[in-house]
Order: sequence, then structure tokens, then C-alpha cells
Amino acid sequence: MCSIIGCISKSEASGPIVNALKKMEYRGYDSVGVATSSNSKISVKKGIGKVNQVNGNLKLDSMPGNVAIGHTRWATHGKVNDVNAHPHLCADSSIAVVHNGIIENYDKIRKELEKEGIVFKSDTDTEVIPNLLGQNRRQTNDIIETVIRTCSKLKGQYSFVAMMEDGSLVAARYHEPLIVGIGENEYFVSSDVLGFIEKTDQAIYLENEQFVVLNDKGYQIYDFNGKPAPFKIVTVPKQFGNVDKGTFEHFTRKEIFEQPTTVFNTADNINNDWELFANIMKEASNVYITGSGTSYHTALVAKYLLPIYTPISPEAIMSSEMNYSKNRLRKDSLLIAISQSGESADVLEAVSIAKNRDLRVISVINSLTSSLERESDASVGLYCGPEIGVAATKSFTSQLVTFYKIIETLSDNTFDFRSIGKSIVQVLDEEPSIMTIAKELKKASGIYILGRGIHYPIAKEGALKIKELSYMHAEGFPTGELKHGPLALMDESSYVIVINPKDETYEDSLSNIQEVKARGAKVVGISNIKHDIYDHWIKIPTMEPEILYPLVEIIPFQLLAYYTALENGADPDYPRNLAKCVTVK
Ligand code: BG6
Repeated sequence: MCSIIGCISKSEASGPIVNALKKMEYRGYDSVGVATSSNSKISVKKGIGKVNQVNGNLKLDSMPGNVAIGHTRWATHGKVNDVNAHPHLCADSSIAVVHNGIIENYDKIRKELEKEGIVFKSDTDTEVIPNLLGQNRRQTNDIIETVIRTCSKLKGQYSFVAMMEDGSLVAARYHEPLIVGIGENEYFVSSDVLGFIEKTDQAIYLENEQFVVLNDKGYQIYDFNGKPAPFKIVTVPKQFGNVDKGTFEHFTRKEIFEQPTTVFNTADNINNDWELFANIMKEASNVYITGSGTSYHTALVAKYLLPIYTPISPEAIMSSEMNYSKNRLRKDSLLIAISQSGESADVLEAVSIAKNRDLRVISVINSLTSSLERESDASVGLYCGPEIGVAATKSFTSQLVTFYKIIETLSDNTFDFRSIGKSIVQVLDEEPSIMTIAKELKKASGIYILGRGIHYPIAKEGALKIKELSYMHAEGFPTGELKHGPLALMDESSYVIVINPKDETYEDSLSNIQEVKARGAKVVGISNIKHDIYDHWIKIPTMEPEILYPLVEIIPFQLLAYYTALENGADPDYPRNLAKCVTVK
């Protein structure tokens, strides 16, 4: 998912734009670019690499002009190269554009424009936007009409910021987030509040099918028919202000170590939707839970958790599979959508499919100003602060806490979240032994993570962490399934990590561990009690009640993935090919 940002400043704009791109680089990208307007002339500089690298080579932050746009590109159409990096110019270089999303009908538009003599320089879908704007501006000589005609032609999910040579900006939103920041005589328009939060917490979240025209005199918002649109200026929650690493080398390790605090913050902060959220759950006769990636694993934990304490026995459906599961959706049911960002295209599509079949939708979100929040009948927030590391860590444990809170609301059970935080500290103290295991893990030919019952979703989440950060293949599956196939893979180069606290699953798992040991595999036991069968034992505290184990047994995997990434020379904060939030299907 790309980051787009525009700025009209009272002084030079390129510096703030480069800072903004740095704040948003957690979203995942492979190239960077900036365009500025000065004395009615547009300059563009762009290249492959990280913000600091490209800025060091091209001096992006010294480009002249008090108006600028910037972009970090996560390639969808067109290879990763300098030409395909944004911003893109129209044929006569009078308009520059940065874009997030996909223009699905770009090929048809490009062919039509080429027939009119337009010569394209890149292989991107984006380049049709500045050229369409240029063509419509020539035909109408009116910026409102220009944007209306351009957006009516574009198909797909997109947001873009266009800078005109006179230094005015137009920015349009169609299913991709776009937020206007209102500063002191300076304006921003960005795909993420982190792009301007250091300058102002006053924001306008554009709705779908809206665009904004900004110049040094101010701004006006319109709908896609050109009618002025009502808007409200909101204050961005303070929690979105803290996005620096402090004394940590990586955001990923910082966020792993925040969890003793964030699990308590999540439990302690509930937003005003809570009552409505819980009532909708109480009334539900049938419940589905959906999410992507780590958020889907939360749905799987909830599937084991809820029936123990409540009459709710939900089905977990992966968001990217919803379109192929829609015939299983019973009308008048409830869908719970889980998403850290609230912007994952798969989750938003799953919600739209459910709503089209008259299901009610409630959601568990970190960003309560996201598209998912707007699409839901009620939402509860994670309050774990911005999660910058691409691999979900603190947002996962906070999502789990939300479900334990739901159980508290729907039953007469209570959980001591302060003591859970202390239990997580105990696991974090195992970091040195986990670093040692990471040195061995990097040599493994195959990594197998086993868990029974409620530990099975944690096995899947642990495997995902290792894949995402260390680029090594890891597979999580139910311990009991070992003998039905995977045992054939076991040999002395196999590395098996068994989630095995002393609960109802303990004895059964021990016998499975014998089977893998007999094949020469190395076994790491994650348990509250030691056992000679383990080559390495990662101690976790005894949890009461036992269903709280997921909150502590995921921590070793987060640290293991982090340190194995470092052993493999990977950057834990920006894993290759991944993005923090995938807003394309
Ligand atoms: C992936 C992220 O792109 O999307 C994962 O890298 C995340 O960390 C997944 O679990 C789902 O994202 P979200 O925001 O919908 O929870």
C-alpha cells in the first residue's frame, strides 16, 4: 500500500513532505518521489530505495517551492524502477500526481489517450491520472469540472493528490483513505494521519466519492457531482502522535515490549460504542468472525474462546475467502470484523458481502477513524497506539484482550489484566534464551509449530511471524495432525516448537513430542513446566484460568521471529514484499 501526501506550506514544503514520508514508511514500499511547484514550474525527483537513501542521493528535501507532493510506492503495476516511481507528470508537465490503489481500466484509458497523441513514459496505471486531468482541464478550463470528469472515467479503488503548476492541489478519494490536515496557514492531504500529526491534530476525513481543492487561500470539499460537501473537523487522538522508536533499534521490538502496558490499556479503555457492540452481540443468534493475516488468527482464538463462556459459537472465515463462502452466510446473522488498520481491502470486501446479505456488522479496530469503522454498526477500539512494525504484535494481544473483555461483558467472568501484563513481562525476560534458539533456528530445513485446542491458532500465528520476519518457511498445525502426514517430514534437520502448557492438552502433546524426537528432530517446548524431552525449554508463567495462555505463549514467537530475522540479515520493520496494510485485493 502506497503513501501519498501533499502540502501547502507558508515556507518551503519539500522538507515537511520528506519528514511525512519517513513517518509513513512503515506501510511498506520500494521507491520514493517528490514534486514541488515554484514560480509555476513543477520539478520532480524520484528513485528506488528507502526515503533516507533517495533523499541522500537526490536532495528531495531541498527542492524549491512552498507546495509539494510526495509518495512511497509499493509496486502493483509496473516494475520497481525510477521511471515507475511517483510522482507522474502529464504530457506537458503542468500537473504532477501521486496515487494509492489501482486503476482497473487504465489500459483502456491509456490507449484512448495515446490515440490523442499522448506519449506515456512509465508502465504504471497511475500515469493515466495526470494525463486525464490535463485533457479535461484543456477542455473545460475549470478545476471542479476537470476532477468530476476525470473521476467519472476511473474504475478501481484509488485516492490521488494532483499538484497544478500554479501550486494548487486537488485530491480525490474513492475507497482509499484520504485525510486533510488543517495547520496554522498550512494544509496537508495524506493517506495517513501520521503524515501530518506532528504539525496538526485537526483533520477532515474525506468520505468516499469526495475531492478537495486546496490553495494558499484555503480549501473546499466537493462530492463527485461537484456539489460542495459538508465536512467536520475532528481532533486526531493523541495516541497517534507517538511514532518514534525511542531507545529501540526497531519498531517491532519496541512494540513487542509495549505489550505488558498495551494489554492493560486495551482492557482499561473502552469507547462509547462498547454498550451497543455488546448488545448487538447479545442479540445475535448466529455469529461469523472475519479478518486477514494475524487478525484472522484472532478470529480463530475467539472461535475456541467464546463458546466456553457464552452461548456464542462463531464460525471464523478468512476475509479473502468470504466471496467464496458467501453462500454459507445465514441471513440476519452477525459478522464481527477484526482489523488493526481498518483499511485492509479483503476485510472491507468481506464486510460489504455480509451487508449485502443483511448481516449486521460490528468491528474490532485499532484505528477508529478508518473505513471499517464507518462501515460498521458498532466498533470497539484496541487503544494500543499506532503499530508501525509490518508484522502484527501488540495489536494481536490487544485484539485477544478485546475478546476477553467481551466475555466479561457477556458473562459473570472477570480477568485480571494487570497481572496478565506482569505475566507477559516474565516471558519477555526469557529473551536471552530465545536469542540463542534463533541462532539455531536459522539453520533449520523446516520449522513446525504444534498446538492443540486453543493453542492451535497460536501455532498458526507463531508460524506467520516467523515467515513474515525471517523469510523462513514455518508451518503451524494441530499437534494431533502430526501422524496424519507431517510426520513424514521429520528428520534431524527439522525444528519443532510445541506449545505445551500443563493444561488439558499436555499429556496428548507429550506423546506426540516422543514421535518427533524418535525421528531426530530438535524440539523446543513452550510450557509452564520443564521436561527433559525438550532440547530447549521456553518458560511461560502458569496462567489461571488456562484460557489466558494465548496472551503469553505468542510472545516467544514474536521474539523468535524478530531475532531470526536479524540472524538472517532481514529488516524486521520492513519485511520484503509485505505492507502494513494491504488496501488492494
Ligand atoms: C498484513 C499485515 O498486510 O495485513 C499483517 O502485514 C496484518 O500484520 C494483515 O495482520 C491484516 O491487517 P489488518 O490491518 O486488517 O489487521
